[in-house]
Amino acid sequence: MAFDQDEKHPPRRRKAPESPASGGEIFSPQMTPKAATTIRENQTLSPEIAGIGEQRLYDSLRPMSFDEYVGQKAEVDNIRVFVQAAKLRQEPVCHLLLSGPPGLGKTTLAQICAHELGVNIKSTSGPAIEKKGDLAGLLTSLEPRDVLFIDEIHRLNPVIEENLYPAMEDFMFDVIIGEGPHARSIKLELPKFTLIGATTRTGLLTSPLRDRFGYIARLDYYTSADLEKIVSRSARLLNIDIDDDAVIEVGRRSRGTPRIANRLLSRLRDFANVQGLKSITQKLAAESLGMLGIDSIGLDKMDHRILHTIIEKFGGGPVGVDTLAAATGEHRNTLEDVYEPYLLQQGFIQRTPRGRIATSRAYTHLGLEPQNVVGAQPDLFDF
Ligand SMILES: Nc1ncnc2c1ncn2[C@@H]1O[C@H](COP(=O)(O)OP(=O)(O)OP(=O)(O)O)[C@@H](O)[C@H]1O
Ligand SMILES: [Mg+2]
Repeated sequence: MAFDQDEKHPPRRRKAPESPASGGEIFSPQMTPKAATTIRENQTLSPEIAGIGEQRLYDSLRPMSFDEYVGQKAEVDNIRVFVQAAKLRQEPVCHLLLSGPPGLGKTTLAQICAHELGVNIKSTSGPAIEKKGDLAGLLTSLEPRDVLFIDEIHRLNPVIEENLYPAMEDFMFDVIIGEGPHARSIKLELPKFTLIGATTRTGLLTSPLRDRFGYIARLDYYTSADLEKIVSRSARLLNIDIDDDAVIEVGRRSRGTPRIANRLLSRLRDFANVQGLKSITQKLAAESLGMLGIDSIGLDKMDHRILHTIIEKFGGGPVGVDTLAAATGEHRNTLEDVYEPYLLQQGFIQRTPRGRIATSRAYTHLGLEPQNVVGAQPDLFDF
């Protein structure tokens, strides 16, 4: 099979889109336009946040060193050792897989690794690498010890994934030149690089890919204390006055997620500005976040809708995820990636082979009477 190319569009060098940190052309002639426009050098690819202006604001809050990175201590301590050792030996770091729900700091951590190593990071995402040529272009554009960051790595096309194996293992890339009986295979030697993959769903990674990572870091939801540190730091960087009690309020309502903490802080600044307040007070924080549909422990409107649906439409469950998605009007992937992990971690729902069940904690939190639900049964010895 020939090296993937689009027949109708003969290869031609494509110029990199303007990017503040990007200097030269990093695109191979074989890259598809989609892949080419999604690659950023020394810059992040962050999905989903509202406007470009707002995104810039959040990007400016990204910690740039391990010392600035709040929380996740066990994982960060390990990764810091790998980075220091690689730096001492002037070698690339082992390939790293960062997993965890959205907004917990996977992209940030990848950028910190590159920054602390003093190397470039090139970022792309699994679905953006459409052809073998895209991957070849990316890999051959790396300098020795550079970091290649692939977000949503569980969404890599299987053919691309297979081509990634020799690159990860032996820093080699198999290229087939010519077609038919004259086709021959050559091995392209690649610079020794580090692959950092990020995923919200480690379970969806194939085991051959998972096994080729030297270390898998699992990021967990942040404690309120860590979120308070993040809110204070962001407020300081953005020059926002916020009372200590308000910091606690925001930390508690951030759903264990730094991205949400920063977003709430930003919204509270809007409320404070409109009300002519110089500082964000606890009262303002509690009232405004309530108006935004975020309850006292950080559950948002969709969390409430999910719990109410399980309890009121399905008698507390069990209910399958597809049925739940249809009943709540939310996409199944979003339910599984964004909402369920936090509700599970907080003990509001349980996953069983027959579907999701609301626990007694969910009933109590919603002010409903628990009936024959998980966690509601009296202990045998209570009689
Ligand atoms: N440990 C941390 N300390 C301080 N701020 C953090 C930390 N982790 C993340 N943040 C902040 O949260 C925001 C979101 O982090 P990031 O984009 O790295 O999350 P992510 O895990 O890559 O999310 P996604 O899965 O959606 O890509 C960043 O802009 C950063 O400012
Ligand atoms: Mg990310």
